[in-house]
Amino acid sequence: MQQRTYVMVKPDAVERRMIGRIVGRFERVGLAIERLELGMVTSAQAAANYAEHEGKPFYEGLISYITSGPVVKMVLSGPEAVSVVRKLMGATNPRDAAPGTIRGDLGLTLDANVVHGSDSPESAEREIGIFFGE
Ligand code: RTP
Ligand code: MG
Repeated sequence: MQQRTYVMVKPDAVERRMIGRIVGRFERVGLAIERLELGMVTSAQAAANYAEHEGKPFYEGLISYITSGPVVKMVLSGPEAVSVVRKLMGATNPRDAAPGTIRGDLGLTLDANVVHGSDSPESAEREIGIFFGE
C-alpha cells in the first residue's frame, strides 16, 4: 500500500556532514522525496513530536538535543514506506542496530541516533502535520 512517512536527519548527523549519505539510502531503495527542508525544530514541534515520551527520564535531553541544531525534515513516499524506513534506520540504539542499517553504520549512541522515522501510518500523518502544517 502506498504510504507517506515523516523522516528527519537529526542534528548530530547534519553536524557530521551526513545529509547526502542518509538521504541517498532512502532514494536508493526507490522511496520518493515529497518534501525536503533544512531548518531548526521549534520547542513546540519537538514537544508535539515526542509527546508520547513526556515524563520519561530521557525526555528533557531528547527535546534539547532535537532542538540543538538544524535538521533535515522530509516526507517520503512509497509502498509500505513507514516500515521500509524503520527497517533501513535500524534499532533505536545504534549499538544494537544491525550493520547495513543507517544507525548501525553511522551512529554510536542512543541519544544521538542519526535519524528519525514515524513508527506508524497514524504517527506519520500527525508528524507531517506538525512539521509541514498539512
Ligand atoms: P525516533 O522516534 O527518534 O525515530 O526513535 P525511535 O522511534 O526508534 O525510538 P523512541 O522510542 O520513539 O525514542 C525516541 C528517542 O528517545 C531516545 N531514547 N532514549 N534513554 C533511553 O532509554 C531512551 N529511549 C529512547 C532515543 O534517542 C530515541 O531516538
Ligand atoms: Mg519514535
